[in-house]
Amino acid sequence: MFNSVAKWAVTALTLGLFVSAAPYKPERRDVSAELLQQFNLFEQYAAAAYCEENFNSTGTKLTCSAGNCPLVEAADTKTIDEFTDSSYGNVTGFLAVDNTNKLIVLSFRGTRSIDTWISNLDFTLKDIGDICSGCEIHNGFWKSWNSVSDDLTSRLQSTVSEYPDYAIIFTGHSAGAAVATVGTLVLRKVGYAVDLYPYGCPRIGNGQLAEYMTTQTPGTNYRITHTDDIVPRLPPEWAGYSHYSPEYWITSPNNVTVTTADIQVIQGIDSDAGNAGTDGLSTDAHGWYFGPISACQ
Ligand SMILES: *[C@@H]1O[C@H](CO)[C@@H](O)[C@H](O)[C@H]1NC(C)=O
Ligand SMILES: *[C@@H]1O[C@H](CO)[C@@H](O)[C@H](O)[C@H]1NC(C)=O
Ligand SMILES: *[C@@H]1O[C@H](CO)[C@@H](O)[C@H](O)[C@H]1NC(C)=O
Repeated sequence: MFNSVAKWAVTALTLGLFVSAAPYKPERRDVSAELLQQFNLFEQYAAAAYCEENFNSTGTKLTCSAGNCPLVEAADTKTIDEFTDSSYGNVTGFLAVDNTNKLIVLSFRGTRSIDTWISNLDFTLKDIGDICSGCEIHNGFWKSWNSVSDDLTSRLQSTVSEYPDYAIIFTGHSAGAAVATVGTLVLRKVGYAVDLYPYGCPRIGNGQLAEYMTTQTPGTNYRITHTDDIVPRLPPEWAGYSHYSPEYWITSPNNVTVTTADIQVIQGIDSDAGNAGTDGLSTDAHGWYFGPISACQ
């Protein structure tokens, strides 16, 4: 999938368009060893959504045939729902419980759709003023979430009733991160305390939405980027898109184990101090977060 993103980026530039797990305990804006461990764990949950064995057989334990989710495999997990290729956007992933870390995790796989939208320059924004005043969101990500929302919301509701003391985590990589973000936005609005861990997430909406998401509660956002990953720089700001704050920017190169010293907390909507200020066109940085995140693809 990454090749055509790169092709698009080159085209856009040519056109001059570019300008043993511990218990879960989240902390805001402080990359402690403990937060790093959460980032690592949820990256592996995002990686697991690419592995077919985790989206073709509801009720099973999570595993990763590519060997890139050992922390998830070490936990006592069971999927509540595995889903694949929804009617719009090919939304794929799983809802699972993790009894070791006391978590309910909803994880979305990246899909080729993002590629299609980006290469078609489909940046259409949809008004979602009923969620927040003046807010607009990427139409494709919105429709993707809505293709699975009824089913997932009712399953989440029954899972929360069954495991009321478990934290609710939404995660995903690439387009999967975007769908996780839309789901978080919508479900916080009706009271779910969702903690969001998106990896390599594209921009999902306009400036008003970014402002709203920066302070939306209940739950906390941990938007994670890596060096010059191209995907979080799309769709571009000139198309009316913004990123909420903060960003957790991994500065170490591919294939290198991430330490707390390698993550910078970047404050401010649309700050250029992190990933947005880079200009690399390689998509390699998109494929590496704490490991080869899409290796099961
Ligand atoms: C699910 O996918 C895995 C990995 O490709 C495969 O080994 C397994 O047979 C599949 N299970 C079902 C029920 O289709
Ligand atoms: C997306 O889903 C449709 C309908 O299920 C399927 O025909 C198509 O092959 C899927 N596309 C990809 C890229 O997986
Ligand atoms: C990372 O590791 C992979 C597989 O071992 C290798 O193919 C690739 O060249 C490495 N990339 C870098 C940037 O070192």
